Amino acid sequence: MASLAELVREHTDLGAPELSHLQRLVASWGLLADLSFADLLLFVPLEGGEGDGRFLVIAQIRPTTNQTVYRQDFVGQVVDEIDRPFVARAIRTGEIVEGEMNLGLSLEAEAERVRVMCLPVRSGDEVVAICSRESLPSFARQNGDLERVYNNVFVRFAQMITAGTFPFPENGAEGEEAPRVGDGVLVLDGAGRVEYASPNAVSALHRVGVHANAQGMRLSELGLEEAAIRTAMGTGSPITEEIERGQDVTVLLRCLPLLADGGVTGALVLLRDISDLRSRDRMLVSMDATIREIHHRVKNNLQTISSLLRLQGRRLTSPEAKVAIEESVRRIRSIALVHEILSRAAGDEVPFNEIVRPLVRMVEDSVSSPERPVRFVVEGDAGTLADRVATPLAVVLTELLQNAVDHAFPEIAEDHDEVMAEGHVLVSLRNHGDELLVQVTDDGVGLPSTFVLEDSPGLGLSIVRSLVVSQLGGSIVLRGRAEAHGTVAEVRVPLGAPQHSER
Ligand SMILES: Nc1ncnc2c1ncn2[C@@H]1O[C@H](COP(=O)(O)OP(=O)(O)O)[C@@H](O)[C@H]1O
Ligand SMILES: [Mg+2]
Repeated sequence: MASLAELVREHTDLGAPELSHLQRLVASWGLLADLSFADLLLFVPLEGGEGDGRFLVIAQIRPTTNQTVYRQDFVGQVVDEIDRPFVARAIRTGEIVEGEMNLGLSLEAEAERVRVMCLPVRSGDEVVAICSRESLPSFARQNGDLERVYNNVFVRFAQMITAGTFPFPENGAEGEEAPRVGDGVLVLDGAGRVEYASPNAVSALHRVGVHANAQGMRLSELGLEEAAIRTAMGTGSPITEEIERGQDVTVLLRCLPLLADGGVTGALVLLRDISDLRSRDRMLVSMDATIREIHHRVKNNLQTISSLLRLQGRRLTSPEAKVAIEESVRRIRSIALVHEILSRAAGDEVPFNEIVRPLVRMVEDSVSSPERPVRFVVEGDAGTLADRVATPLAVVLTELLQNAVDHAFPEIAEDHDEVMAEGHVLVSLRNHGDELLVQVTDDGVGLPSTFVLEDSPGLGLSIVRSLVVSQLGGSIVLRGRAEAHGTVAEVRVPLGAPQHSER
């Protein structure tokens, strides 16, 4: 479905400031639907101006405080003066038009007659749209105290819409947490005294320790900080503030000044107890810290293990055993590296490139012959990977890099011209969203002619195969380079749904 902005740009003559005005209206009109217990529809004249007499519905909202009149969605529909005489009259006169209207049989509505109040929406000096409040006629007759107060506040907002003072120029905190009418309503008079407090507002006040009857009192007299309310009413702009009582209670307060004839005549204050939201936030933060601490401890333990192994290796005399221990130490260190990065990152994901560089440095340090230097280059971006993928992949990469160092550049080269020429290893990383591609390319002697990955007896590549294929569900290929000397190891790892479902 087309967005409000698309509908306005494609079908009307309205410019950017008018569009922004209507977007701000729609961003905050849930409040108006709830206060008026009614459905709201927003009409704009179609391109070509009012002469044409046709209107496009660009937005619709249902109240959360009452049943809806319309089950059907009107957004994108075009109506004319005959379908919607009140809309046409409101646009022509620039004044609020009220009345009852018969619904055509085509409309899938709860009743045949609907009460309509059409508000001209003024932006600057122009009427740019009509906001129509639509409800069942029966509803008006069964009004209680709360309904009467809310309707009255709605009418004050309606007059502000028509005067061009609502929506407010800056919208501020209309986020997910923004309090709604159902959360609790205070209506203040022009002097900041409570005229009306809804039952939920009374409960929210209880939560912050206010037990006195609020009626007729200023918030400061009730023991609440009044600065935000005073600022909102002084400047005529809305303000959102959090009231905290100890560790456990947080109430969100949103104050919307009510304006008339260039002055502030009162305010609507919405109160929402967000203690549960805040305590969940705090819990998430502390869980995050715990996870980081655990990664930190794992890293320390792995470092201890590798130190112990290294000590053991020093006491050995058999060269073969020494090499085996060295390799194990290297594998453990590459796992520890992932945990080191994880202990600094938020959550369970790591930017993998941050791991690649220290891995490369670790392998570089193990190059035994300084006469045959090997240069490493890393290119591309692996993106952010889940711990589940990053840890095995770090071990895989270590093995592949180590093999390039161990096997690609033997100290005695066959071709004498190339003796001691510099070796190159390129690590290339590509994240395609659903798949990660890692290539390690060297320009060394190439694989033995009889080499078959599946039959290769080495421990390194069998670890690599088991991690890539069994643990990561990916694939690995080792082959000679077509255009030059050397070997390419190519690893593909799927980054599908399991990674996302963890979040
Ligand atoms: N980059 C490479 N260049 C040349 N040969 C390689 C390369 N990588 C692996 N090989 C060959 O694959 C064999 C198996 O490697 P691996 O399983 O890691 O065991 P190891 O490194 O202990 O020999 C190596 O002995 C070598 O012959
Ligand atoms: Mg190896």
